[in-house]
Amino acid sequence: MRINRYLAQSGVASRRRCEELVTGGLVTVNDLVVRDLATQVSPTDVVKVSGKVVKAAEEFVYVMLNKPKGYVTTCNDEHGRKTVMSLVPNDVRLFPVGRLDYDTTGLLILTNDGEFTKRVTHPSSEVGKTYVVKTSHDITPTDIEKLCKGVMVDEVMTSPAQARALGKREAELVIHEGRNRQVRRMFEALGLEVVALRRVAVGSLTLGPLKVGEYRIITKRQAYSII
Ligand code: URA
Repeated sequence: MRINRYLAQSGVASRRRCEELVTGGLVTVNDLVVRDLATQVSPTDVVKVSGKVVKAAEEFVYVMLNKPKGYVTTCNDEHGRKTVMSLVPNDVRLFPVGRLDYDTTGLLILTNDGEFTKRVTHPSSEVGKTYVVKTSHDITPTDIEKLCKGVMVDEVMTSPAQARALGKREAELVIHEGRNRQVRRMFEALGLEVVALRRVAVGSLTLGPLKVGEYRIITKRQAYSII
């Protein structure tokens, strides 16, 4: 990348000011002064401004995975089960943003952007997570109403949600919190066993045509659009 971009991305100053620093002879690459704005630098070069090292800006990666059943959403599993890490690129160390159960399928975001993860998973974030739920027994209109208003899980009421029937034994549920096994436990509270659970959206980000087990790199802008 060009020296000017490198400096600006690393937060040294505005692009205009970085140009001035280069043409003014204040910038060195591997201890040689560079005045040419076309100078290319790579992360292995040592760039200094007025003798102070300027580290390369971290490149964040955002991946959207359609998680299959039978994978855990941790980086390692003490029981030797398959992890979602085996399904995504491993040239950068990625971390799952939140969790999906072993048997849950669907949209999982992975990234190396810790700030993004914190913002999405923080209880106050209220990012909507949309699930399609299949149950062992019929879902009644009263069940839908209760899911929307809140049900008791671990002696704490769930926050208001949006729910609608998609079929006799299928519903869509949008929740804005992320308690452990929340969807399954909300249905259990109504006496309904969940037989299949799929997350189809996180905020405005949807699975789209992504097949089970496949991933897609998304842009920072797309990732941040859900917050
Ligand atoms: N709620 C659940 O019960 N399980 C999931 O995997 C995600 C949400």
